[in-house]
Amino acid sequence: MMKVLNFINGEWKESSSKQFAPVINPATGDAIGEVTVSIEADVGAAVKAAKAAQKKWALEPAPKRAEVLYKVGYLLKERKEQLARMLTMEMGKVIEEARGEVQEGIDMAFYMAGEGRRLFGDTTPSELKDKFAMSVRAPVGVVGIITPWNFPIAIATWKSFPAIVAGNAVVWKPALETPFMAQELAKIFEEAGLPKGVFNVVNGDGPTTGNALVEHPDVRVISFTGSNEVGRKIAEKCGRSLKKVSLEMGGKNAVIVMDDADLSLAVEGILWSAFGTSGQRCTACSRIIAHESIKKELENRLLEAMRTLTIGNGLDENVKVGPVINEKALQKIDRYVQIGKEEGAKLLTGGYILQEGEYNKGYYYAPTLFTDVMPNMRIAREEIFGPVASIIPVKSLEEAIEVNNSVDYGLSSSIFTRDVNKVFTAMRDLDTGIVYVNAGTTGAEIHLPFGGTKGTGNGHRDSGVAALDVFTEWKSIYIDFSGKLQRAQIDIDE
Ligand code: UN1
Repeated sequence: MMKVLNFINGEWKESSSKQFAPVINPATGDAIGEVTVSIEADVGAAVKAAKAAQKKWALEPAPKRAEVLYKVGYLLKERKEQLARMLTMEMGKVIEEARGEVQEGIDMAFYMAGEGRRLFGDTTPSELKDKFAMSVRAPVGVVGIITPWNFPIAIATWKSFPAIVAGNAVVWKPALETPFMAQELAKIFEEAGLPKGVFNVVNGDGPTTGNALVEHPDVRVISFTGSNEVGRKIAEKCGRSLKKVSLEMGGKNAVIVMDDADLSLAVEGILWSAFGTSGQRCTACSRIIAHESIKKELENRLLEAMRTLTIGNGLDENVKVGPVINEKALQKIDRYVQIGKEEGAKLLTGGYILQEGEYNKGYYYAPTLFTDVMPNMRIAREEIFGPVASIIPVKSLEEAIEVNNSVDYGLSSSIFTRDVNKVFTAMRDLDTGIVYVNAGTTGAEIHLPFGGTKGTGNGHRDSGVAALDVFTEWKSIYIDFSGKLQRAQIDIDE
């Protein structure tokens, strides 16, 4: 039984609440650890430490700050297998995907370490003689990070690595379900030699711990990944205090399959993006927008392929679909399946909680496929976050794009076609932050911006250089070496 504490100012501390929450392995239902549940005072202590540490950290040359991230990258690499196994045990995703998730962290470490020698700004001419102008990226200060359980280590690296290389200090509130990955990442930072207080972890729930972070006046940026409902509340609070806030809030992502698509490839792409991570990705495919001429064939092929999905404990290398996170998630998924049936969608397969034998103790849902789904049905509009996909028939590319864009979310989309004209039309017209051609809706790489339009976000992005925009302020600097007062816009020769 692992006992997870907070990491504040380089020390492991129990919350003064004395409360602990159990950590449950969703594959078995077993308690595998417990985690301290924090109160406002713990957040206060972490922010105080971060604020003090940040001042010094920001004065280290950025390439020096980056050296810590290189070490973090090597440590993550060294421990990849061990971390992946722990990750599977605490959140359930299959081991192959857990390894992939740790790899995202490794990639991000090396990528952001490279930023230590870039962090580019612009130099540009001044309109006045003997005057120089440039813009530089300045750290914002203390960064508050709030992350979900579905990618317990990768998402934390997407946010904390750019923040740290840019000279900020971090206070991170991980999801209460997945404290192991938070603890391991903090240990790695410690071993990599990050100064005390630059990276802090405060475990707890959203309403108390997360909220204290959002409301703390010394936290200058909040970067959040989670539900739309919580994200909106955070944005409102940050709006009132003019705090910078970056939100990533899920999706209702579609794979479009055109009449000329390579159907075997489309089936593979759909299977991977709809049922991988048991559908618990914000990029998961939950809508399949199928051209009516291939709809029947696609249904048959998907049904056949879904029979090969072995379901079980993700530590078993042969298992393709692991459990969902907990009982509440099972109930939510099942409720949506009932709603789908009531709305008149046709259930092709699945649609039930698995309870027999080895499934009895864990939280398993049968991979589920609906067809003849109408775009206005709730199962075609709301995020289910489980292994449930819906086929929506359409007659043309225009209609497919319209259906794709009709939902409140805009994270990821995909099109399977062999027609280059359709590809470019879709690339232009699909209203999502990420578009795939001839691949499923998942699999974003860390050096490109990650995020979406409409209800998915608020205009910011994780990953890529775009992440630096969240964690830095632009500072424009003018240096006059003329020795006299030169007034911009006024002292110009006309
Ligand atoms: C998420 O579901 O929040 O593109 C992140 C992907 C992964 C990241 C998903 N690289 O599916």
